[in-house]
Amino acid sequence: MIDLRSDTVTLPTPEMRQAIANAALGDEQKREDPTVLELERRTAELLGQEAAVFVPTATMANQIALKLHGRPGDVLLAHETSHVLVYEYGGAAAHAGLMTLGLEGAAGRLSPEQIRAACEPSVKAADQRVAVLSLENTHNNAGGRVWPLAEIEDVVATARELGIAAHLDGARVLNAAIALGVDPSEIGARFDTVTLCLSKGLGCPLGALLAGSDQLIGLAWREKHLFGGAMRQSGIVAAAGVYALDHHVERLAEDHARAHALAERLAGAGIPIDLEQVETNFVQIDVGPLGLTRAEALAQLRDVGVGLSTTIHPSVIRAVTHLGITDEDVDRASELIPRALGVPVPSAAS
Ligand SMILES: Cc1ncc(COP(=O)(O)O)c(C=O)c1O
Repeated sequence: MIDLRSDTVTLPTPEMRQAIANAALGDEQKREDPTVLELERRTAELLGQEAAVFVPTATMANQIALKLHGRPGDVLLAHETSHVLVYEYGGAAAHAGLMTLGLEGAAGRLSPEQIRAACEPSVKAADQRVAVLSLENTHNNAGGRVWPLAEIEDVVATARELGIAAHLDGARVLNAAIALGVDPSEIGARFDTVTLCLSKGLGCPLGALLAGSDQLIGLAWREKHLFGGAMRQSGIVAAAGVYALDHHVERLAEDHARAHALAERLAGAGIPIDLEQVETNFVQIDVGPLGLTRAEALAQLRDVGVGLSTTIHPSVIRAVTHLGITDEDVDRASELIPRALGVPVPSAAS
């Protein structure tokens, strides 16, 4: 199967497996695992922060951040389709006791005016305050969309002015940096805390980091223990992360180029795709105009050996490029997808 369901489906490459096999190890809880320490140091530097802590998943990194920034009864602001609101099982409420306010916004982005409006004093202003703003970059449900730096700057400046902590769910922040052509620290340094996921475009089997100030990451360690996420010889996994930082960051540009190529060829064949949406490694296809339901479209694609997946939007499916997808896969998928969805590929002569 050409597996375009998600960039989370990647398997470690032989070279990454070698790095894992050779990893120097120690007890992470005692801060004695040299590979974890190296990964944490390098990630903090990469994201323009003082420190970072290694955790098993990006969800745990986000949830720890929310606990650091809010108290029960406080309000979390985020885009209405952001991962923290939609896919983290109500963790913001369950773990941090936060109320959530999801805001609408084009391309997964929010404006300073929306942040201000959400902070207007309410009748319960005394005990109900907006404490945390969580942004997502790239934004998964918007189709891997990227925040322009100037917009991040404005929104985070507004949060600071209003005394709100700013968290970045940067599970795919390296895709954003590559797409913008900027150093990742130019994005990461603006926030109080930043989540980075290793098991998406970076191609690791698992792992994520939360970066922030020395003080916040010191506090994050307590939360990591509370979540049961303080590990032992976890350098065995962190080694994949160190390898990925060395070898899999710049190559994200290839994933983006393949997504663009796929999108252009599918759009050229008459598949409903908004090419402007394709900024990184996601291609969103609206199957509604083709007279298909999502389930029908995905089943027909599966039958021809191409895996796509659903999105939060009822008639939209997505193809995601990643480490395991080659140019040949894109060529084949460009032919198979229109055929499976009942859109004839124009012949070379026509
Ligand atoms: C934007 C975003 N944040 C967080 C996560 C959570 O990652 P994990 O599965 O490692 O918990 C995901 C996973 O898809 C994501 O897309």
